[in-house]
Amino acid sequence: MESISVGLLGLGTVGSGVVKVIESHQDKLMHQIGCPVKIKKALVKEINKVRDVDIDTSILTLDPEEILLDPEIDIVVEVMGNIEETKEHLIKAITHKKHIVTANKDLMAVYGPELLTLASEHQCDLFYEASVAGGIPILRGLVDGLASDRITKMMGIVNGTTNFILTKMTKEGRSFDDVLSEAQALGFAEADPAADVGGLDSARKMAILSTLGFSMNIDLDDVKVKGITEVTEEDLQYAKQFGYIMKLIGYAHREGNRVEVSVEPTLLEESHPLSSVNDEYNAVYVYGEAVGETMFYGPGAGSLPTATAVVSDLVGVMKNMRLGVNGKSAVSPQFMKQLKEDDEIYSKHFLRLHVEDEVGVLSSITSVFSKNGASFEKVLQNPLGEEKRAEIVLVTHKTSLEGFERVLEELRDLKGVQFVKSTYRVEGGDA
Ligand code: NDP
Ligand code: HSE
Repeated sequence: MESISVGLLGLGTVGSGVVKVIESHQDKLMHQIGCPVKIKKALVKEINKVRDVDIDTSILTLDPEEILLDPEIDIVVEVMGNIEETKEHLIKAITHKKHIVTANKDLMAVYGPELLTLASEHQCDLFYEASVAGGIPILRGLVDGLASDRITKMMGIVNGTTNFILTKMTKEGRSFDDVLSEAQALGFAEADPAADVGGLDSARKMAILSTLGFSMNIDLDDVKVKGITEVTEEDLQYAKQFGYIMKLIGYAHREGNRVEVSVEPTLLEESHPLSSVNDEYNAVYVYGEAVGETMFYGPGAGSLPTATAVVSDLVGVMKNMRLGVNGKSAVSPQFMKQLKEDDEIYSKHFLRLHVEDEVGVLSSITSVFSKNGASFEKVLQNPLGEEKRAEIVLVTHKTSLEGFERVLEELRDLKGVQFVKSTYRVEGGDA
């Protein structure tokens, strides 16, 4: 091969990073693949936009077909985002025998299996390392590094924007909106940051991770999702008082073929290793039956870290081209999934209640817990400014999700309880 031609769909935060990494690491790429890599065309929405990268504007185009149908382009790098329109572009590229590298978790969480099948039918590679946890090589870690093991649990911080927000709110007392604006300016957030703060971005990544890690088709709808939009400064303060740090945690657990996958704001013991993962950094714990505990850590978002993952995928495609083995690496899921019911899911829970400050309220709350087989590990009561009202904050021992939901339902109707202010899952500490 004289050179490899790449077509870029998108030249924003990640696309600009890809151009920079290819230019600045050309020597290393030459050494690994034996020929230069050239960006032939880049699809954008606006040709004359000021860009964060020095690029000859003659290679910019508004017409996707100039890339998708160009017989000289070997690999299409999709870093434009969106789902339906982008899926059509990728189908066209694959049917025209182009290999794909994408950073698009929105697309892969929904249409991944379909696109992977199509790609392998056309002897094309479809790699998507950058779609989960930015610069951390977690997908290769699962698929290749831990290929021999049986993975039973993955727990991690897989969204940079929300970790950035929670870190700054906790450590600097800044407001949610202020920190979100900074995350957007730094290029961490999605075009619509509702997907970040609502937990959907993490849910998409957990669907991808658990599909690969557990070798079963986990759909986005299988992931229980709660974001951080309702987290308040008081919640963070109470968490601190109890010795916890709040993180948006993706959790995937498998017992036999029964699995639970969720994303929710979770209180972690301060000593928990994920508690010290700050700012836009991500980390994923992976537990394998043979290897035990492993942890993958690194920058989860941002231009150059994400571009590193994209360009590493490009190198993977090019090595396969040299060996003539493209389209052969995807492995179809081995197991049928069975989702756990709520009575099979166990954890501790944090709970804040506003109550009438009267004799007997705490004891009737205790009765509701014991009636449902639950109990407290920690409890505190604070008088509120208003007359005869108090706040009760507690952490339960491990209890089933079903049992805890029953407790909440009964507490909402209990005399003396005004309302349930917030609840969060708690991880770490004793069993
Ligand atoms: P940006 O919004 O910064 O860039 C998107 C690029 O695609 C822009 O160049 C834009 O053109 C172009 N584009 C978008 N829609 C169209 C369209 N309909 N037709 C033509 N061009 C289009 O996004 P990011 O670079 O941040 O993200 C790209 C992808 O990477 C997304 O899937 C995202 O989820 C994923 N990702 C992002 C990470 C990050 O840290 N930002 C990390 C990991 C994954 P123009 O420049 O003219 O507006
Ligand atoms: N918006 C995403 C995040 C980008 O903040 O993690 C990386 O996938």
